[in-house]
Amino acid sequence: MIVCLSGVPKSMIKSLESECGYAVYVPQRKLFPDGEQYLRIEFRSISDNVVVTQSLYPEQDRKIVELYLALEALQGLDIHVDTVVLPYVAYTRQDKRFLFGEPISTKALYNALKIFGVTKIVTVDVHSSRPFNDMGYTHIDLLPHSYMISRSGLEIDMVLAPDKGALHRALDVAKQLGVEYDYLDKYRDRITGEITIDTKTLDVAGRDIAIVDDIISTGKTLAKATEALYRADASNVYAVVSHAFISRETIDILSKAGLKSLVIANTIELSIDLPSWIKVIDITPIICRALKSG
Ligand code: R5P
Repeated sequence: MIVCLSGVPKSMIKSLESECGYAVYVPQRKLFPDGEQYLRIEFRSISDNVVVTQSLYPEQDRKIVELYLALEALQGLDIHVDTVVLPYVAYTRQDKRFLFGEPISTKALYNALKIFGVTKIVTVDVHSSRPFNDMGYTHIDLLPHSYMISRSGLEIDMVLAPDKGALHRALDVAKQLGVEYDYLDKYRDRITGEITIDTKTLDVAGRDIAIVDDIISTGKTLAKATEALYRADASNVYAVVSHAFISRETIDILSKAGLKSLVIANTIELSIDLPSWIKVIDITPIICRALKSG
């Protein structure tokens, strides 16, 4: 059985049931007048393992509290939850103390899951695995890009990371799909925030390229990378991204940059209509595969 909390996108809940064969349970929820959350789980008897899943996109603070409430409720029912699945994980940027006196946000939020008996955390393309490993969890992070490329039907002959730090994603796709891979040079002006992307000496002329990344926030990284690749005579530039915070403005920026197609995963519930060049791929099957392989 899988307990799906409010952040889990509807398409994912549907697939957990229909594609992966899980019995899905959605707890009762309501808000008290002061804004506090109420949650109730009414299981009578459970024979199999219970997994809890929550996707922590905004309002992420509310969603983490909901996760704590669900785990405590299950503990109160004597149901042991060993594994939680977090398709989108909030508070992972601050994965170390960059400055004196800062918290490790990931630790602040997720260390508490141990109190409820959780030992394993499954995530999708998380910013950093380090804090989860440091906290002693078994951490499984799933890179969905090659699955998304295969399912979307994109024909590519090269995969690029928009910066060196993202190279592992391009490498993973290259290994799975047998295409060339590399990375672009990204520079961000710390004062103006302006992003510059350089294609270095890469020979991208006439190539069909997928840029792979973890997240779209403003869309500026992807737009700059797309423009740089077209300036270097790439034929077609596509992007494949795990977590997409998409607004009308983002769509506009990417469309003006000439991005041919954007493939995104369903880790975040989007509330706007998408143009036909943006495709959402249901990545639930790779989550189920990871859960079933132990
Ligand atoms: C950077 O390290 C990340 O991997 C993304 O490239 C970045 O966060 C995307 O942000 P934006 O869409 O605002 O450029």
